[in-house]
Amino acid sequence: MCGIFGCLLEDGHAAKVILEGLKKLEYRGYDSVGIATLDARGIHVKKDKGKIAEVEARLSLSSLPGNLGIGHTRWATHGAPSQVNAHPHTDCTGAIAVVHNGVIENFMQLRSELEGRGHKFKSATDTEVIAHLVEEGIARGLPFLKAVIEAVKVIDGSYAIAVISVKEPDTIICARKESPLVIGIGDRTLYCASDIPAILPYTRKVAVIEDGEVVVLSKAGFKILKLDGTPVSRAPFIVQWSAEEAERGGYPHFMLKEIFEQPLAIKNTLRVPKVYLKLSSTILSDSKRLFLVAAGTSYHAGLAASYMLSSLAHISSTPVIASEFISLCNNTIDEETVVLAISQSGETADTLSAVRCAKEQGAKILSITNVVGSSITRLSDIYICTQAGPEVGVAATKTFTTQLTTLALLAIHVSMDRGLLTTSEAQELLDNLHKVPGFVDRTLKETEPLVKKVSDLYCNKNSFYFLGRGISVATALEGALKLKEISYIHAEGYPAGESKHGPIALIEDGFPCVFVAPPDETRANIVGNIMEMMARGAHIIALASEDDKEIEELSTHFLPMPREVYKYFTPIVYITPLQLLAYYSAVTLGYDPDKPRNLAKSVTVL
Ligand code: G6P
Repeated sequence: MCGIFGCLLEDGHAAKVILEGLKKLEYRGYDSVGIATLDARGIHVKKDKGKIAEVEARLSLSSLPGNLGIGHTRWATHGAPSQVNAHPHTDCTGAIAVVHNGVIENFMQLRSELEGRGHKFKSATDTEVIAHLVEEGIARGLPFLKAVIEAVKVIDGSYAIAVISVKEPDTIICARKESPLVIGIGDRTLYCASDIPAILPYTRKVAVIEDGEVVVLSKAGFKILKLDGTPVSRAPFIVQWSAEEAERGGYPHFMLKEIFEQPLAIKNTLRVPKVYLKLSSTILSDSKRLFLVAAGTSYHAGLAASYMLSSLAHISSTPVIASEFISLCNNTIDEETVVLAISQSGETADTLSAVRCAKEQGAKILSITNVVGSSITRLSDIYICTQAGPEVGVAATKTFTTQLTTLALLAIHVSMDRGLLTTSEAQELLDNLHKVPGFVDRTLKETEPLVKKVSDLYCNKNSFYFLGRGISVATALEGALKLKEISYIHAEGYPAGESKHGPIALIEDGFPCVFVAPPDETRANIVGNIMEMMARGAHIIALASEDDKEIEELSTHFLPMPREVYKYFTPIVYITPLQLLAYYSAVTLGYDPDKPRNLAKSVTVL
């Protein structure tokens, strides 16, 4: 996730306006920043690694000349945060500049073709291919607009781009597919940006650009077209939100916004280049001992992954809470050990110390993180980045489901590489995984009103149990963690089969027991566990397949889940109503879910 901003002023200083716009977008990424402006002398670019204020103090981005320009605040996906990888990117001649938010899946192929035709690349980013593609179009004699359209037609993946060219010095061309893009219409000024809050200080008149559309911003006004050139008519609307509401996309809290961003975050995460999966899969297959090391929510992702790896890839792994790793595993590490570290921030001190300890003893380090350039990525032999974008709410939501998505992809690839799945079986699983964003979307919409009711009824209880079997133990643990960290209600996650060895002693009339009960091989036993709890007066809140009439009848409250979710992907979908349960309980109790007491987003002490 990155932020883009562009503006075309009647006269005046575009760079100053762009800088202010980028500050509003900094929540979308803040590892590097850059601006390109255009005047009679050509394109001027300033960019560097670092937060906006630091780079501005060093380079004075806002002093760039010209009344038209584009800017970018970056959240690295391809290429570590650095001066050359910062946007805007230019073509070979410096006559075209582009900013981009999204992921270009086929960039390696496009880059090698462009290099074969003599183009010189300066950065390691996927974005730079766009500048060179537009350059080729213009060199072939195409008008600027046509050159941009031809360029985006060959791109696979997601993008919101803004492009400028000396060929048409009064024009900004934007295009969008699956990454957000809005335009703002001022008094003889035009703006483009990744979201509305960036534009609000200048105008409340906004038009939202849809997938597959191109926009031309020029002195003549704005023009929206489809890629085949058909004009689109779109009446702008007047934004009624306050600036503060707008930053949360109209949601009352970041946590809720991030819960609802999960379908898109998962979709983007599924775009991980195959080469990373291949390399990671080889490391996992060759390991003699595999530890899945993580803290908090990330540990729950690791726990779920241990079920995926053992069932799908026949690989035995040990999930270990990072702070326990050295005590538990220190004497069992050697060159044949692999540590798969999972950390959304890539900075958790417990996880880093486990990784350093394993590395010193020759173990290979593989990691999954949401932050390129974080400490964990620097210590890793190979890392895969989830594409959740920055998560502002302290409680991990979209970073958890994107970790699970990456781990599921990895398990499928290891299984294929080990010859345990035929190509068609693997394809079937991949097809199901690609449907998960849709399953999550549906689940959130269908269960939200039911969850609100449950939270109203039970948020004054002192205690909750969350029970599951098999891979759903991870979902149950995470559901309990979410509730306790956000609403301060005591909640315990437990393997349902183990609940009769102690926890059941606490059950009394009306005790809320959440059962995570997907239709897998554990279902029959979990029905037995539901009965045990019911017999002692527990109220059953069950998450089960929408067609599971038996569990529905046993439940006090039934949360229907999509029937088609493949059994090892259920945590990605089933956790989402439990995130909502934590959220609505906190809100009903009057707590701020974005800033739970005593907790930090990233814990950098041991
Ligand atoms: C903190 C956060 C949790 C997070 C844990 C691990 O405790 O509050 O939400 O799960 O750290 O963080 P990591 O960045 O390593 O995933």
